[in-house]
Amino acid sequence: MEMKSAASGAYAALAPMAGVADRAMRELCRGFGSAFSVGELASAKGISMGDKKSFELLEISDAERPMGSQLFGCEPEIMAQAAKKALEYKPDFIDINMGCPTPKVIKSGGGSSLLRDLPLAEKIIRAVVRMAAPVPVSVKFRTGWDRENIIARELALRAEDAGAASLTLHARTRDQMYAPGIDLDSIALVKQSVTIPVIGNGDIFTPFDAANMYDHTGCDLVMVGRGAMGRPWIFSQINAYLKDGTVLPDPSIYTKMHLLLRQVKKMAEYKGEYIALREARKHAAWYMRGLNGAAGFRALCGELKTFAGLEELTLRVIEKNL
Ligand SMILES: Cc1cc2nc3c(=O)[nH]c(=O)nc-3n(C[C@H](O)[C@H](O)[C@H](O)COP(=O)(O)O)c2cc1C
Repeated sequence: MEMKSAASGAYAALAPMAGVADRAMRELCRGFGSAFSVGELASAKGISMGDKKSFELLEISDAERPMGSQLFGCEPEIMAQAAKKALEYKPDFIDINMGCPTPKVIKSGGGSSLLRDLPLAEKIIRAVVRMAAPVPVSVKFRTGWDRENIIARELALRAEDAGAASLTLHARTRDQMYAPGIDLDSIALVKQSVTIPVIGNGDIFTPFDAANMYDHTGCDLVMVGRGAMGRPWIFSQINAYLKDGTVLPDPSIYTKMHLLLRQVKKMAEYKGEYIALREARKHAAWYMRGLNGAAGFRALCGELKTFAGLEELTLRVIEKNL
């Protein structure tokens, strides 16, 4: 996976987001200069049991490459076997999820549960690295289970020793969930502690937030999640600002609505119109944040059923925002 460099001009990657950063969104963000994509988390157990939905999450388009498939689970052998299966889809790297705080994933023993069992976390990384080689393996994690148990440095050292090729640190504990405020010092500490690339993540909503994370942590790249919801252009804004201080404005209302339609059209291509339009409701509402009439339009987004309906709505939004 490519890290920040003057040559690539990519200073930020799109974060994996289950139910949000699907193939359509990942492709669009890559088009705006995101450094690479990571898939929505897929259950290693689901893959091992042949679950169709888990396999769908491993599908990759060339337009989103470099692309990493993300796996979660708590059994080293099952994780390794799932990695082997994932490799059939030709990802550019495999990412191991050690940060997901949702009850379902925690209950399975995966995601941020592993922050409480570092020997097991290390075993999982070792097993996946052995199976995936020569494809690189990255690990995405949080700073710890709670504030009394910050383990970011220790897990980073173990991951490096186990053969991880890079690390992404979402600088919050599991019990902080998504509460505002991240621990930039923990990213700096991890960066100083290992020799592999470190990607900083958390609360980047503007190019200035990205610059601040680089300045405070010395990280090799930053990763943007919620800041890219309904704003795929944030990657070109971050890249322009970090390259030479250029502040790019948001696109025009025409371009915004055009991008929304383009994203949803792709979603419909991949998932069919019925599912795509239901999933598109939240994306459409994100694209409309801050616009004139946004509250009313958001309510209409919640009723979207067809692509034609979305086209009609975007025309009304444009008219109200000229
Ligand atoms: C809706 C949603 C879904 C997420 N799904 C995943 C996931 O599948 N895998 C993962 O590693 N992190 C997932 N995350 C966490 C993000 O990748 C990221 O670490 C977190 O949102 C912090 O970054 P941000 O402040 O830029 O949003 C998700 C976050 C959100 C908001």
